[in-house]
Amino acid sequence: MQAKYLSKATDLAKNLIAMVVKKNDVVIDATVGNGNDILFLCDLVGEKGKVIGFDIQDIAIENTEKKLRDKNMIDRVMLINSGHEKLKEYVDTKVSAIMFNLGYLPGKNHEITTKYKTTIEAVKQGIDLLEVNGIMTIAIYPGHKEGLKEKEELLKYLSTIDQKQGNVLKMEFINQINNPPLLIAIEKK
Ligand SMILES: C[S@@+](CC[C@H](N)C(=O)[O-])C[C@H]1O[C@@H](n2cnc3c(N)ncnc32)[C@H](O)[C@@H]1O
Repeated sequence: MQAKYLSKATDLAKNLIAMVVKKNDVVIDATVGNGNDILFLCDLVGEKGKVIGFDIQDIAIENTEKKLRDKNMIDRVMLINSGHEKLKEYVDTKVSAIMFNLGYLPGKNHEITTKYKTTIEAVKQGIDLLEVNGIMTIAIYPGHKEGLKEKEELLKYLSTIDQKQGNVLKMEFINQINNPPLLIAIEKK
């Protein structure tokens, strides 16, 4: 039997995001990829909300743009073909949520993946942009070499965040083999 509620880090992330995001909010998808998370965010913010999405791969931006057009949601989205480490160059407003779904684009070149230095930079900038009680989720995939390094370095950095700045929660499957995904959630104080 498949697990229904605790199977995927990304589902847990969505539940946390859904708890916080309201209609008309501005939110960020820091890793657009195949555009699944951005559709979810578009639903939450509604027609008058705004979702700002980042990805370094043209193919991710192009496919997602098409998906959003097909669903009639493109007007509430700004897609940025650039690294999330430049978050603050593009966003100067407070946001209620930021989603990171790290790693590589499934089915595409696994060498093009998020890397810990740029991820940490983006997380730092993202925390600054979060409004009070805003939430950031980070799904980490340590099942590949770069992902394992990313997990180790990111956890080191996250554990140094002052608790006056925010609460940082780590959710981890502790009985699964082969470096299962884990989820970080940060609530800004
Ligand atoms: C696991 S996928 C994201 C899945 C996606 N959220 C979805 O719903 O399909 C990770 C994505 O991060 C992107 N990426 C890698 N480095 C990045 C960076 N520095 N800034 C933004 N995106 C990056 C990759 O190109 C890839 O598309």
